Amino acid sequence: MAKIVIAGGEPLNGEVQISGAKNAVLPILCATLLADNAVEIGNVPHLHDVTTTMELLGEMGVQLIVDEKLTITADPSHVTNTVAPYELVKTMRASILVLGPLLARFGHAEVALPGGCAIGSRPVDQHIRGLQALGATVLVEGGFIKASAKRLKGARYVFDMVTVTGTENVMMAATLASGVTVLENCAQEPEVVDLAHCLNAMGARVEGAGTNKITIYGVDRLHGGHYDVLPDRIETGTFLVAGAITGGRVLAKKTRADTMDAVLAKLEEAGAHVNTTVDTIEVDMRGNRPKAVSLTTAPYPAFPTDMQAQFAAMNTIAEGVGVITETIFENRFMHLNELTRLGADVRIEGNTAIIRGVKKMTGAPIMATDLRASASLVLAGLVAEGETTVDRVYHIDRGYENIEEKLGGLGARIRRLPG
Ligand code: UD1
Repeated sequence: MAKIVIAGGEPLNGEVQISGAKNAVLPILCATLLADNAVEIGNVPHLHDVTTTMELLGEMGVQLIVDEKLTITADPSHVTNTVAPYELVKTMRASILVLGPLLARFGHAEVALPGGCAIGSRPVDQHIRGLQALGATVLVEGGFIKASAKRLKGARYVFDMVTVTGTENVMMAATLASGVTVLENCAQEPEVVDLAHCLNAMGARVEGAGTNKITIYGVDRLHGGHYDVLPDRIETGTFLVAGAITGGRVLAKKTRADTMDAVLAKLEEAGAHVNTTVDTIEVDMRGNRPKAVSLTTAPYPAFPTDMQAQFAAMNTIAEGVGVITETIFENRFMHLNELTRLGADVRIEGNTAIIRGVKKMTGAPIMATDLRASASLVLAGLVAEGETTVDRVYHIDRGYENIEEKLGGLGARIRRLPG
């Protein structure tokens, strides 16, 4: 298996271009199933999860063309298959996002149940109940969610909890329902807003995305068009923490500062000087060691769970004690056990991690367990003295485009060993 080797201990300094958001492009690709003709998607990141989604859509009969700038043209006019097989769903939970679009456009969908994953049990009951509220008949049978409906009907549905892909699935389905759908207790993540903008560019009438109440006026058909995916706030945050953890300076370009308030506030608390424009963010530690920060993850606009591991890594070498509480996923501290191999001082009590910063860590072989956890291990490797080898980096390739090239461009001594 491929590994990443990092010789740590140097402050990073430089500029990095941010890619399109993984969590926006995946639902947007699935949304193309709703259209009558080709949809062109720009600012697509080169990620393993994007390849998996294309494979899934291809399996259904969507014709896909990728140009040299990674613009994807998805033509869903010849879809013949409405089944998402387990082999693909098990490698990427976001495959569940084909459920709503397939059901709404073809009246039928079968999607393998995603099952558990490394960061805890992740049920999809809200996706199912939301679609049932729109009139779908849903059976869970033989490991598959089997949904059918002649035509979905607009309805009001209040989500039991805030779910990002749940909101997206039901919102997509409602675009082709008859009448008006009102969804409440919706996720307000920028990626939900981006998907709504894309759907509207395809002729949908979605209002209120970005608030907890989304209203969808059903239309008879959606058409093709062009849409550029928003920048990735988690990738941005990861590079900014890379600057902060090494006491360096990083300028992230082609990003969106307005989607990152909670993360930037915590970086300032850690002692970073933060400067933003509309599409750039600079973090400068001026050679200083970060101060420990305490935080609690929660749905947007609060601090994102997808940045928790990176800030935990920063706390390991910070001045003071940081207390991190994870409220979204039940088993999302696996990176901390790996970080202790580098010398981190960590105590875990339930969903809280108490991290006492140490003055220095030393490199060691460590192993990635999930996507964001693996990013935090690379960050720790940047600051640990000596060589750190991160194994199982396929997790990182699911969500970070060319991470070693981008970090290398900032001055990191990092290389990939092929598996
Ligand atoms: C999305 C993101 C992921 C991020 C997460 C939380 C994508 C592709 N992935 O994942 O990167 O970490 O949001 O910001 O956008 N839940 C239920 N029943 C449901 C749905 C969710 O109980 O039907 C629970 C989950 O177990 C979890 C919480 O709700 O505890 C939030 O999960 P959710 O927002 O659905 O995460 P994802 O959409 O899977």
